[in-house]
Amino acid sequence: MSDYLWFEGIPFPAIGYGKEILQEACHKFVIRDEDTVMLTYPKSGTNWLVQMVCLIQTKGNPKWVQSVPVWDRSPWLETEVGYKTLINKEGPRLISSHLPFHLFPKSFFSSKAKVIYIIRNPRDILVSSYFFFYKTNLVKNPESLGTYFEWFLKGNVPYGSWFEHICAWLSMRERDNFLLLSYEDMKKDTKSTIMKICDFLGKKLEPDEMDMVVKHSSFEAMKENNMSNFSLIPEDVITNGLVLLRKGTTGDWKNHFTVAQAEVFDKVFQEKMAGFPTGLFPWE
Ligand code: A3P
Repeated sequence: MSDYLWFEGIPFPAIGYGKEILQEACHKFVIRDEDTVMLTYPKSGTNWLVQMVCLIQTKGNPKWVQSVPVWDRSPWLETEVGYKTLINKEGPRLISSHLPFHLFPKSFFSSKAKVIYIIRNPRDILVSSYFFFYKTNLVKNPESLGTYFEWFLKGNVPYGSWFEHICAWLSMRERDNFLLLSYEDMKKDTKSTIMKICDFLGKKLEPDEMDMVVKHSSFEAMKENNMSNFSLIPEDVITNGLVLLRKGTTGDWKNHFTVAQAEVFDKVFQEKMAGFPTGLFPWE
């Protein structure tokens, strides 16, 4: 059980992260025009998106996603291993990151690099991250969902407040090099989402290639695939068996929140997200 590593006001997991690398990643890393960044608050569907983008690149051929772990295909910028991999990588890079807006490398904002940002119902994120993190050594053990619920609303969870992450990153949503997706739409109409990603990245898929992208990025295929299901994560990070591909559904929070918790969450959501147009959040 670990406490957080605090960096510039944000709690990071204490394993796999370090202050020096965070300093380099946030303040010195140079994003290149040809990079594509998968940016999310944790548990929003990051690994699903990476799988889709990798398969789009190979036109549906699953060889790459079945032979190289997800963290090597799209290294995690702010982690110690990911940062070291990225700085030595040639050519157009796929980069994953959960960094909040104010910590993301400033070089991005004057570049033509593309960012794909996924939003997801924060209630489902809360449940997903509770079940994910309590099996790891990455965070303090919350002991119960009720405790994790309190921490989540206070932003006392890995990468800080969901509300702050979303509010800040959504300020980019009208930019040409920023694509906003939602987990809910990815579930409801996977093909349309893949088409949006293709348009954004300037790629084109034939119908049979599209079918292969859908097939090999499906929940079932990713759950079976050791390169995408996190089964290769070392034992010292996992305490109790770690499942990335847990349920893969929308609305699971309804099975876990009490009526009182649902009411509290609604109130906080309405207060904090009041400035955004209705319709931006497909789950509301
Ligand atoms: P659940 O815990 O609700 O099942 P991240 O990759 O950002 O850590 O997000 C993990 C969440 O995305 C998990 O949610 C996981 O099941 C879901 N997910 C991953 N791949 C998926 C897929 N192919 N289809 C649907 N959901 C997927």
